[in-house]
Amino acid sequence: MKPSEKGAGFLVTIAATAAFGAAVVAGALLIDRAEPVSDELIPPEATVEYGERLLRYTAELIGPNAEDPSMRYSGSNLDCASCHLQNGESAGTLSLLLSTPRYPRHSGRDGEMQDMRARINGCMERSMDGRRLPRDSVELISMELYIASLSERYAGMGTPEHPGTTFVEPNRRADAEAGREIYAEHCAVCHGENGEGLLETGDPRNGYTFPPLWGPDSYNDGAGMHRVLTASRFVKDRMPLGAPNLTSDEAYDVAAFINSQPRPQKANLEADFPNRILRPVDSPYGPYAEGIPFLEDQLKYGPFRPIREWYREQREAQAAALEDERG
Ligand code: HEC
Ligand code: HEC
Repeated sequence: MKPSEKGAGFLVTIAATAAFGAAVVAGALLIDRAEPVSDELIPPEATVEYGERLLRYTAELIGPNAEDPSMRYSGSNLDCASCHLQNGESAGTLSLLLSTPRYPRHSGRDGEMQDMRARINGCMERSMDGRRLPRDSVELISMELYIASLSERYAGMGTPEHPGTTFVEPNRRADAEAGREIYAEHCAVCHGENGEGLLETGDPRNGYTFPPLWGPDSYNDGAGMHRVLTASRFVKDRMPLGAPNLTSDEAYDVAAFINSQPRPQKANLEADFPNRILRPVDSPYGPYAEGIPFLEDQLKYGPFRPIREWYREQREAQAAALEDERG
């Protein structure tokens, strides 16, 4: 199936899900399956249009079953747009509308400056469980161009309101067992009993109508979505798709449930965060800073407020020590 034909299977799915009620169907209808702008395959040089197609049809173009084996960069059949909704065009959590001006910037995870291409490759290696695209590849530069075009378009819109998250962090440990029930009630109808998702067609190259949330074809354990607070914000603001209706407590627990399930493991995670006090508070893997007074369970599931406070103190102490050295 060509990318341009993608969506036909989707309509069938809408009909099939109709039995589950208006909210689910309303949600499903919001999935943006915009046609790719151009049908030509790989352009000789980077274009915004190719970048747009790469974000929407990632599985087909650079996924693990891509026609050309040398193009198999992503390790899962997710699309970038599985998380960056409407290809990053939708304002709100994980929007890419405001991203380009944020780069280059220092990355605590990499321990160095990171430009947009390196940031995209971060999602390639973690969210997509794959490998880096070459820095000068038509694919990577096209994605960079497309994301830059979003910022330009956004500025052209007179920079309308960009909603912050509605998630309010509960000051308690997230309860994965409570999350299991929330999952069954609110999520399984689309994402499957076992988080396996639903492929668009029998051919995995066509990607997912409903992407998997855990298991072998999901994001890996080094991904941002594998952090409980990052996943909570996304779920609270965005899920169920088109009809988000969970409380912050429910989003927090269901995020813990999803992220307590098995998923691909990223090699070499111990090299992340060379400066260990620059970890996000909900970073679910070590090595943690020496002397950190929290157990692994709390570092993964919270409560996060005491951890945040501890990191803040450590950073202040480190900054003060640096000041002294400069003296
Ligand atoms: C499983 C969900 C998921 C998928 C799939 C995914 N990303 Fe991401 N992406 C994230 C999360 C979560 C963050 C923010 C991470 C954080 O808060 O540290 C992010 C951040 C980014 C950023 C930085 C945004 C900013 O404003 O700083 C870019 C750019 C990006 N992703 C591009 C991509 C591209 C391109 C792809 C496909 C190759 C992709 N992502 C696939 C979840 C995903
Ligand atoms: C109406 C169907 C539907 C329901 C119900 C639903 N989702 Fe989703 N979800 C989607 C679709 C579709 C996407 C991908 C969006 C795209 O490709 O445009 C998605 C994407 C996601 C993603 C990011 C992609 C990935 O595979 O990791 C997460 C996480 C997620 N959903 C969690 C949840 C949770 C938790 C619930 C229950 C509270 C839920 N969803 C309920 C349809 C649904």
